[in-house]
Amino acid sequence: MNQLPDQRVAGAGPVQQIAEDVHVITVDDHKCFLDARPWIVSDTCSCLDVVNDILILGTGKTGRRIAARLRAAGRPVRTAARTSGDIAVDLGDPDTWAPALGGVTAAYLIEPDLQAASTAREARIPRFVTEAVAAGVRRLVLLSAGGADHDSNPLKLAEQAVRGSGVEWTVLRPTWFAQNFSEGPWRPGVLSGALALPTGDGRTAFVDAEDIAEVAASALTEDRHNSQVYMLTGPRAISFGEAADLIAKATGRDVRHLDVDPEVHIERQVAAGVPGDVARLLTGVLTAIRDGRDAGVADGVERALGRPPGRFEDYVSRAAAAGDWD
Ligand SMILES: NC(=O)c1ccc[n+]([C@@H]2O[C@H](COP(=O)([O-])OP(=O)(O)OC[C@H]3O[C@@H](n4cnc5c(N)ncnc54)[C@H](OP(=O)(O)O)[C@@H]3O)[C@@H](O)[C@H]2O)c1
Repeated sequence: MNQLPDQRVAGAGPVQQIAEDVHVITVDDHKCFLDARPWIVSDTCSCLDVVNDILILGTGKTGRRIAARLRAAGRPVRTAARTSGDIAVDLGDPDTWAPALGGVTAAYLIEPDLQAASTAREARIPRFVTEAVAAGVRRLVLLSAGGADHDSNPLKLAEQAVRGSGVEWTVLRPTWFAQNFSEGPWRPGVLSGALALPTGDGRTAFVDAEDIAEVAASALTEDRHNSQVYMLTGPRAISFGEAADLIAKATGRDVRHLDVDPEVHIERQVAAGVPGDVARLLTGVLTAIRDGRDAGVADGVERALGRPPGRFEDYVSRAAAAGDWD
């Protein structure tokens, strides 16, 4: 107990142990729930500065980058996923949630499977939010998406839950990730040389997942992002043809975009075993690019970080140098 920070934090009251490895301390009238290890005490003491784990849901394109940034800054982080995190959590199985939430004060939430979210009897992110707040989580950062305003989009309920949670929140609405070309669904097309997608000459301002991660890490640890919705894009909208050319130039590969009629794209996906409704949903979001509805450039990265977003060209150079397309 003599390691505890109550002597070092201005405004801190005595520490009380309420369970094994779980303690409560009052700092400037805020009650904080603390885990015994490790103690984080900063000069600018706020409730979240002295408390412990930050929960990151998912270890994929965004989660692992956020965790890496926070760990590099000395923050205690717990990643949660079905098979790949520090702790096993299945969003589809509420019995797995409580162990991950104990001692957590800030959480990054994603809905990794929009189809599962829309068919669940009870929307699972809203339910997770309720349990997180009841467990003592004081700050929520949600990864949403540009189309979350539509009633049919399950992320709409997730956004509503986070915004109405009663704790601090930030919503991130990124456009298409640049990393889809190197870590996601478009990588096989790059490797085969033919990016066959129903996007025509439509353009979009691909956002670098490193920017999303930097905004998320900041939102999880700094007060200034409270109650903010950030639209996150890159600095310039480009077509899939230009994206393919840039990847080809950086890698020396022959990579081209091949436009596909949207109906043909649906048929090909169904023939490959994708359920019809999912094939239509996925094709529908891609045709938004084709129709010019995803070409907007937003100022979310600049507003959140005070600097312009990363360029697609720089992402491509980094990914090529890292061997992501080898
Ligand atoms: N890609 C884009 O262009 C784009 C654009 C805008 C918004 N988004 C949003 O980004 C989100 C996806 O985030 P991401 O790209 O960082 O993730 P991701 O790279 O797709 O990885 C998904 C992660 O979630 C975990 N996961 C999957 N199912 C799970 C479950 N039932 N319970 C717990 N964990 C589970 C996976 O690990 P395990 O398999 O080990 O569980 C994995 O670590 C989606 O909500 C999507 O709408 C994506």
